Amino acid sequence: MRRTMYRTIRTGSSRRAVTVAAITSTAKRLPASLKAANDACEGGLEVARTRPDFAGNLGEISIGNDQAILIGLGDATPTRTALRTAGGRLVVALHAMGASAARIDVAPHLTGPLKNKPAVAQAIAEGMVLANWRQESWRGTASKGDPATGTLILTSPHGGSRGGLRRGCILADAANEARRLGSTPPNIAHPGWIARQARAMARRLGMQCTVISAAKAKESGMGGLTAVGQGSEHPPCLVHLTWKPKRSSGGPKLAFVGKTITYDTGGYSLKISNGMKGMKYDMCGGAAVMGAMQAIASLKLPIEVHAVLPCAENMVSERAYRPDDIIKMFNGVTVEVTNTDAEGRLVLADALAWTCRKIKPTHIIDIATLTGGVVVALGQWCAGMWSRDASLRKTLQNVGDDAGEQVWRMPLWKEHRDFMRANHADIWNSGPKRDGHPIQGAAFLSYFVEPEIPWAHIDIAGPATTESSTDLYAAGPTGFGARLLAETAATLAVDPD
Ligand code: BES
Ligand code: MN
Ligand code: ZN
Repeated sequence: MRRTMYRTIRTGSSRRAVTVAAITSTAKRLPASLKAANDACEGGLEVARTRPDFAGNLGEISIGNDQAILIGLGDATPTRTALRTAGGRLVVALHAMGASAARIDVAPHLTGPLKNKPAVAQAIAEGMVLANWRQESWRGTASKGDPATGTLILTSPHGGSRGGLRRGCILADAANEARRLGSTPPNIAHPGWIARQARAMARRLGMQCTVISAAKAKESGMGGLTAVGQGSEHPPCLVHLTWKPKRSSGGPKLAFVGKTITYDTGGYSLKISNGMKGMKYDMCGGAAVMGAMQAIASLKLPIEVHAVLPCAENMVSERAYRPDDIIKMFNGVTVEVTNTDAEGRLVLADALAWTCRKIKPTHIIDIATLTGGVVVALGQWCAGMWSRDASLRKTLQNVGDDAGEQVWRMPLWKEHRDFMRANHADIWNSGPKRDGHPIQGAAFLSYFVEPEIPWAHIDIAGPATTESSTDLYAAGPTGFGARLLAETAATLAVDPD
């Protein structure tokens, strides 16, 4: 059972804040720059430094008194990832001591390229807010409740750090929103529920939201979304969220497309029982996109961003689609269904083609828990990324490294596209052999994106969830992709190529 955490963490001001400073394992004494801070907390930082079991190793926490905490930085130059981990441990310590506010005074005491950067405060805040998240409790009368309590206020004596703390809270809140959506059980989180969540978010943050109903989707030729969703009592839909900044500069127009399968039984190509458990997480692509939109609107990023979520539940019933069905997609491409469990690419295909035609974006990124094969290939450590655009690839790789949400390039060649050619229609949704099947998914999707639009496909089936708890993530959904996409939007807003 995970420990109780804070109900809210936010930036603000407080006079009773615990001082949080940092020190390397090589420092023999407290740096002179921390003298004033040490005096202000009655020598607590010095007490923390001299505790016999404290070596200043990376992520180590030493509590001086009820007003002072020291974080160890190790002997190497700390990275954003290390600072996030430290933040994760820090929030646990602060909660245990009953702190209601923390003054983060770390950036000036670092060495290396991060010294004095708002990114330091951002990474620590991200770590704190990510580690603080717990799955909403669905416990009933047979268990004792353990509600999260209290608020933690984050402050800093440095203006730049205060900005970093705020940004970190917003980005981690975005990931946590994706986790909330992802962890909501499939008997509640059906396509209509997702649409309601999107509408509520749009209202809350000044975005536009339109929902294309199942009937409209069918009428407009979305054969993929229609087929996948037709077996469920909950009709499919296509959610479209738009963030338009006040001052639109005619810069890039981004589109994010997220696979939102609220439950994936496999359909008639039924998953064996062990493979089905956990398929409520098959909407984590859409959840990441929603989370990113929350951050983009909260930060009021100066870039137009569209989110498109094809939502459907892949079920078995007398109305469900079958292997051997041939369907016509939004862009007129015909698909022979060889496997009803390769459903994600069918709903994404319509959403991608619709996005290209209706939105005409300058960049398009889709994100999906698309294949078990990518988990076999890359594990839970990173997402697979397919893109033929060198500039977009570089942006995603750099942003992913900084965010701790790494992407790794996979191939997409003509040979892979040719492999998807079918006997009875233009293409099939899954080849007769399982060879390279995450690549088959990407190759399939490429038939639905206009070739001149820079496009990336991100398969997050591995990192979208974690089986065991880590410093940052309780077991369950990780919100992987929310920070990656939001930071990508922030990067493209400043530097479109
Ligand atoms: N949602 C699954 C992929 C998945 C599997 C995500 C495990 C997370 C964990 C997807 O719809 C699927 O079923 N993919 C098939 C593709 C195959 C039929 C070509 C798979 O991975 O086996
Ligand atoms: Mn499937
Ligand atoms: Zn799926």
